[in-house]
Amino acid sequence: MPEFQFVYPTPTEMLEHHRLHPDLKVFRPAHLQHRALIGITQIADGSVGTVLCGEEVVCYATLHPPDHYQRFGEATVSGMLELGAVESAPEHRSQRLARRLLEVMLPEESFQQNIIIATLYHWHYDLENTGLSTYAYRRLLEKLYSRVGFEVMKTDDPEISSYPGNALMVRMGREVPEELCLEFERLRFLRQTRGLDLSQH
Ligand SMILES: CC(C)(COP(=O)(O)OP(=O)(O)OC[C@H]1O[C@@H](n2cnc3c(N)ncnc32)[C@H](O)[C@@H]1OP(=O)(O)O)[C@@H](O)C(=O)NCCC(=O)NCCS
Repeated sequence: MPEFQFVYPTPTEMLEHHRLHPDLKVFRPAHLQHRALIGITQIADGSVGTVLCGEEVVCYATLHPPDHYQRFGEATVSGMLELGAVESAPEHRSQRLARRLLEVMLPEESFQQNIIIATLYHWHYDLENTGLSTYAYRRLLEKLYSRVGFEVMKTDDPEISSYPGNALMVRMGREVPEELCLEFERLRFLRQTRGLDLSQH
């Protein structure tokens, strides 16, 4: 039975000295994802959780401010974070690595002043390796994320609302400043705020 070490936050140098398992390639080839993870450890409010097996990273998850190309990245109030990629190498899946890593990264008392979003996009789902349908996969992720305090929330973001296989999940801290809550609500229903609610026509 291999020995796994759960590390959060993973220091930049530690990540530089551990290669990524070559099959961690759902989002991009492993060597490029390795570079991207190192980059996340170097930005403000960015952090990476890893599961190490010997010299290799076999599972990881990222936390960072929402990317600028998506609507929550437009936030003008600080405190919003995104649980970005979560990935386990296929040969180590279904051993609770992802679940245990998220529990290490997001204990109940942590991030109480933050709103953390997670966007579930079906084009990222690894249906081939799991043999699951899109909806079964969405349910798997909902369950995985809900264990660490996330819940599904509605949004009018067409990237999410136009595909039933996609979802927005949110972990709302207990001490989130009101200003951040209002900004989050504004972004969640941006089309309505901008008078673009096409369902009215
Ligand atoms: C989703 C993913 C991260 C899960 O990793 P993992 O290490 O296998 O997950 P765990 O072993 O911790 O399992 C988490 C839960 O999912 C369930 N699960 C995992 N694989 C499953 C499968 N193939 N079929 C059914 N359920 C499954 C587990 O039973 C567990 O549920 P439980 O806590 O109720 O027992 C992994 O499949 C993966 O890397 N997928 C590709 C990338 C991806 O889709 N990332 C998520 C979006 S960013």
